[in-house]
Amino acid sequence: MARALRVVQVGCGGRAQAHLAAMQASGAVDVVAICDLDATKLHETADRFGIAARYTDMAEAIGAHRPELVDIVTPAHIRLGIVEAAVRAGAPAILIEKPMALSATECDALVRLGADRLIAVNTQYRWMTHWQAVWKLLRQEALGTVRAIRVSTGVNLLEQGPHGLDLAMHAAELCGWGNPEWVLAQCVGQEFFGANAVPADTSAVIGYGDNRLWLNAGPSAPPVPGESVIWYQQQVEIIGDRGRIWVSLNQGWTLWRNGRIRQGTTGWPADDGVAQQALFVDLRRVLHAKGDRWRSFATGVAIAAQRQRVMDGCIRSAAENTRVQVL
Ligand SMILES: NC(=O)c1ccc[n+]([C@@H]2O[C@H](COP(=O)([O-])OP(=O)(O)OC[C@H]3O[C@@H](n4cnc5c(N)ncnc54)[C@H](O)[C@@H]3O)[C@@H](O)[C@H]2O)c1
Repeated sequence: MARALRVVQVGCGGRAQAHLAAMQASGAVDVVAICDLDATKLHETADRFGIAARYTDMAEAIGAHRPELVDIVTPAHIRLGIVEAAVRAGAPAILIEKPMALSATECDALVRLGADRLIAVNTQYRWMTHWQAVWKLLRQEALGTVRAIRVSTGVNLLEQGPHGLDLAMHAAELCGWGNPEWVLAQCVGQEFFGANAVPADTSAVIGYGDNRLWLNAGPSAPPVPGESVIWYQQQVEIIGDRGRIWVSLNQGWTLWRNGRIRQGTTGWPADDGVAQQALFVDLRRVLHAKGDRWRSFATGVAIAAQRQRVMDGCIRSAAENTRVQVL
């Protein structure tokens, strides 16, 4: 049996609970220590998951336990600083949450830090079972030639754009579209993501040669039939000349192909739990492999940065009222 991946958990907030539950359920991970600045959250979470080694100083936890991975589940506005501190403390590999960055400068700095160690972004949706089946279909070219992909989310670009774009852009990659070339976007209104301003609504078209990816994030997102929860207003549609697949976060999926319709279910949080576990299993696989297998990890920072550059491109395009290059 493969040995467990030794992980230091940093952050004991809302999302960390799902990471810890998945790490323990996966059987792939040994959480050797846990850390939070907030001692109350630290002890409550450590008690819940039965973790003995507890720290309020991340560098001390990394130094004392020499983990193979540091799982950092903290807010976006401290992302770069805490990753830099983890690297200084000796973290050999790091998992961070989305969004990976709040500016192009931070995004580039994270890519540089990830040049000689795995820094991966936790866009876990692509490990959901139904998405794994979609990737297989696309590899088999089962939808024929795909020229259009649509992705939408009812909430703003920073909140859910990283998930939706990761799915849609991975689909584009598997359909042989190459890299996105340009973005033409319109943004309306303003909301706040933490202390950071973000457009309340974004509508964009992203050009890949003759192919098009359509994005809506905010009220312009078409409603998901049957969905009443704003967070679950997420859908992706991949349209080929021999078939089409539609996948929602919480209201199932439908495949139209060869004159037949197939349907299945999707559901949060069950699918999230499965995906989060599968992501940790995959992290163990690449981090325990010899050589630089870690470079192929599906959501490494270099790949995540392409999604981030498209999000930045949306905001730049709307501000400059023109199409912008994102290559
Ligand atoms: N992938 C997903 O599906 C998903 C879902 C929800 C949230 N998220 C993302 O997860 C991230 C965290 O969200 P959250 O809701 O858990 O935030 P949170 O504010 O509830 O928790 C963050 C925790 O980090 C701790 N912290 C901050 N700085 C620290 C430091 N230097 N050392 C140790 N601990 C420190 C805080 O004390 C806090 O307990 C966000 O970026 C969010 O967007 C992702």
